[in-house]
Amino acid sequence: MQVTVDTRNPARRTADLLALPLTQLDPSHWRLPPRMAGVDRAAGGAILSLLGTGDFRGKRGETLVLYPQSGIGAKRVLLVGLGEENRVDAEVLREAAGIAVRATAERKGKTLAIVAPASRRVRVAAMTQAMAEGAILAGYRFDRYRSRRESTPAEVRSVAILLEKGAELRAARAAASIGVSVAESQNLARDLSNEPPNALPPAAMARAAQKLAREVGLRVRVLGPAEIRKRKLGAMLAVGGGSAHSPRLILLEHNAPVKARGGKRSSHRPTTICLVGKGVTFDSGGLSLKSPNNMVRMKHDMSGAATVIATLRAAALLKVPLHVVGIAGAVENMPSGTAYRPDDIVTSGSGQTIEVKNTDAEGRLVLADCLHLARSEFEPEALIDVATLTGACSIALGPWAAAVLGNNERLSDLIVKAGEKTGERFWPLPLWEVHREHMRSQLADLKQTGGRAAGTITAAAFLSHFVGETPWAHLDIASTADTSRSGPLQPSGATGFGVRALCEILRNWGRVKVD
Ligand code: BES
Ligand code: ZN
Ligand code: ZN
Repeated sequence: MQVTVDTRNPARRTADLLALPLTQLDPSHWRLPPRMAGVDRAAGGAILSLLGTGDFRGKRGETLVLYPQSGIGAKRVLLVGLGEENRVDAEVLREAAGIAVRATAERKGKTLAIVAPASRRVRVAAMTQAMAEGAILAGYRFDRYRSRRESTPAEVRSVAILLEKGAELRAARAAASIGVSVAESQNLARDLSNEPPNALPPAAMARAAQKLAREVGLRVRVLGPAEIRKRKLGAMLAVGGGSAHSPRLILLEHNAPVKARGGKRSSHRPTTICLVGKGVTFDSGGLSLKSPNNMVRMKHDMSGAATVIATLRAAALLKVPLHVVGIAGAVENMPSGTAYRPDDIVTSGSGQTIEVKNTDAEGRLVLADCLHLARSEFEPEALIDVATLTGACSIALGPWAAAVLGNNERLSDLIVKAGEKTGERFWPLPLWEVHREHMRSQLADLKQTGGRAAGTITAAAFLSHFVGETPWAHLDIASTADTSRSGPLQPSGATGFGVRALCEILRNWGRVKVD
């Protein structure tokens, strides 16, 4: 989908659909904002007379289609409600653009023009970025396994965002292009997560990362089972042991430091940020087998890795001035004669021993080794992991928010704030010394699980033993990584949650300090 920005007259615009986003209307006086009024005049007053009927009130998400017979260039006009004016934010605009794209596609339209509404609350650049994101996200479908695709809506090829005359076009175009890169990356995360588990075992995920790295110019290394063994990443190996598909550790780097001649690192080194993703390509639970109902959707258990891989893609396209490392631990958790067992004691890459209690708590074992690798190999300024880690997260927050925990309040805060901007809710949970102590074992250095109480917190407490003093945040996205409901910005299935917030953080990193 192509997204363009210009300031030409909406009334003369040729398009399959012209979308006019409108805030909630005051029934006592129908006045349209000036540019919408221009469209109305050109269409012979069709919009105003319709508003007079009360059939459209501008409630958030409300839509109405008109077919003006003459006077304007577009075949159809779609009114999209934005809700109350003083509540319009980037998310409202993202959704409005998404609604317009879907309405166009449902009518087999290929071209959409959408008027950027005047807003006192959202600046033009933020508005353009949000609308570009909404358009690209709403255009997403996962239908590559359907043989007959006639019944699915057509693809919208171009979206023109129409700004007011005199608007800062250059800044708006730059913002639109950021929105396109971020949203296309989020769609890539959705694609990876939606792939069926038979099509995306660890080796296939690694190949996908390699292909992407070639396309956008990231450095990529893939460690296979032999190298993982050589590095003594015993926790990750234990999880992968039951599967016929061997694990892979995927390392992606944006702005990897180039070694100066003589093998020394060059003196100018940009700040390093490490992102770590849980990449369990299928979580059967292992010998602590999940029940059939709990096992479906477990193809999405690699969504953390998908989010990390997608964010690295965006970091490359946006040329963020940081050294960003993405680490994805890709394994399949299966029961078999070679599977790890409850009661096993495994030695992690950090040297700490772990008493296994439940083979279904596999994600934290994979992350333990990936976090250790991140810290010991890259010495990052900050470490953020993303994982569908605990069912308890959905109990605590429902499908409305992801959990953020860690050892650095400023970093957690940064993530919550970034998510507020990008329309992704993160909410903090405490992580105290009592939780960390609770994870010590009689038989080994650490217990893998801490019982039913505060499941999301004890999982994070376990992880905290592998990050040392590095500023670290853990994002538990078990509640938000996939959805059973379709919405204005997506069909049911993988959401690509977290990509936008992580991009936001990376883009603004220069302005924050976490230590
Ligand atoms: N992948 C699951 C967590 C999950 C559950 C994600 C539901 C998305 C939806 C994870 O590996 C797991 O099974 N965790 C266990 C931990 C328990 C055994 C301590 C859980 O949450 O039940
Ligand atoms: Zn599990
Ligand atoms: Zn899992």
